[in-house]
Amino acid sequence: MTAELISGKELAQQKREDMKAEVEQLARTGAVPGLAVILIGEDPASQSYVKAKEKACNNIGIHSVVQRLPEATTEQELLAEIDRLNEDETIHGILVQLPLPDHISEKAVIESISPEKDVDGFHPINIGRMMIGEEGFLPCTPFGIVEMIKSKGIEISGKHVVVIGRSNIVGKPVGQLLLNEHATVTYCHSRTKNMKELTKQADILIVAVGIANFVGSDYIKDDAVVIDVGVNRLDNGKLCGDVKFDEAKEVASYLTPVPGGVGPMTITMLLHNTIQSFKRTQK
Ligand code: GUN
Repeated sequence: MTAELISGKELAQQKREDMKAEVEQLARTGAVPGLAVILIGEDPASQSYVKAKEKACNNIGIHSVVQRLPEATTEQELLAEIDRLNEDETIHGILVQLPLPDHISEKAVIESISPEKDVDGFHPINIGRMMIGEEGFLPCTPFGIVEMIKSKGIEISGKHVVVIGRSNIVGKPVGQLLLNEHATVTYCHSRTKNMKELTKQADILIVAVGIANFVGSDYIKDDAVVIDVGVNRLDNGKLCGDVKFDEAKEVASYLTPVPGGVGPMTITMLLHNTIQSFKRTQK
């Protein structure tokens, strides 16, 4: 058997077309959703992510403001800029691209963003809201993963989900979101002793470790759904996931490719959150 691929690229495109139409409709009232992105320093990966976010906004008609600040920007200067954006009524979402230089506290920055403009869903208030199932902003990559699973009509309720990875951005929240969808959730991480025994029980396996080709067919139950969140750049310049694609596709029922899988969904859910934020201000 060969797994059916879940194309994040196609789903993202479809959702972006719908959002473009919605933004055009909203713009008739005279206002448009606005997203501010702050990038500190010259990290090439961050620069390319920020460019992609800017382009995606422009494509669907979201007003985007990108501030590229020097590496030497102080924490105080950054917090002052965030304060200004918190008060700016034309801005509905604020995103500070991570990672930050060492002299700036990530915690201070995330907590300075108004929870009502935290379209990344990283503020402790939004994480708390997610945990108790209240309305807020959901973190974009986990939100995108749930949308991908649902797009194929795959039942989540009652399923055993195993997440490999426990980062604040992906691992922990994706498990929480799937728990909210009534899955039974197990987390594995670098200290887990019997990882393969656990992953072999997964109906849905989410791999977010950040190590190229970490998961082979020996980790995967027959007909499992496998979501590969990894984005690893190989020495030859190619992107590859955390899952051995050729092996996984022989055992899984559904599989996400890299590239063209989870990646395009992250920005799509960022656009979604920005539109939601705008709509909440219009109420
Ligand atoms: N760096 C890597 N992924 C992300 C993300 O989703 N949001 C922000 N702000 N920074 C990131």
